[in-house]
Amino acid sequence: MKPKPMNPRTLERAKKISPSILSADFTQLGEEVKAVEKAGADYIHVDVMDGHFVPNITVGPPIVEALHTVTSLPLDVHLMIQNPDDFLEAFIEAGANILTVHVEAAVHLHRTMMEIKKRGARAGISLNPATPLCFIEPVLEYADLALVMAVNPGFSGQEFIPAVVAKIEQLRQMIDKKGFSLEVEVDGGIKIENIGLVAKAGADVFVSGSGIFKTPNYQKTIAEMRQQIEKYKNK
Ligand code: DX5
Ligand code: ZN
Repeated sequence: MKPKPMNPRTLERAKKISPSILSADFTQLGEEVKAVEKAGADYIHVDVMDGHFVPNITVGPPIVEALHTVTSLPLDVHLMIQNPDDFLEAFIEAGANILTVHVEAAVHLHRTMMEIKKRGARAGISLNPATPLCFIEPVLEYADLALVMAVNPGFSGQEFIPAVVAKIEQLRQMIDKKGFSLEVEVDGGIKIENIGLVAKAGADVFVSGSGIFKTPNYQKTIAEMRQQIEKYKNK
């Protein structure tokens, strides 16, 4: 299966919410994904962990393929794995629309991005909280998305690291100065209470796992997140 074309509604929206299924109820994953789609999500964030790059193991290509049958939203696949090049084809064939690799794991980052694009997906690059922006600056123009981690990857439900806000601001300035059009995504510890701060810093895509799936009403939570984004985005 190849990636489906991106849903036009999703592409139109400048600020996007990408619920991370890591916090969903896995006994009813399909229903959970349908519920966040109905509640107004723009992407579905899929966290892939290998037990080497991060101290946890999650899901692989069969889950990505299965998710495609229950949602029309783009699948935003976040690879937290060593040797990502070995798995690009499998995830894109499974239907990943955006495929993000970590700069700490991709030895030849530019080559990896080109490979992702050649196979028809959008190329994302991600940085751990302690990794400086200069690691991605030379290849930013080739990326479709830059994912700034606001927690050390591996688990959902961790606390947002405030120092990352300045990093998002710097990345935004870097991108705007050069006139690039890639999206800035932030992942880790995002909730209604801090999403405005991150929007103000210049993020475009907001990943939230426990901040959405551990709340009783997904629609209400996503609506409140959007209100916060709108309130703070240009301040
Ligand atoms: C962390 C993952 C995140 C995580 C987000 O390694 O990449 O996507 O699931 O979960 P919350 O929003 O609960 O921090
Ligand atoms: Zn993630």
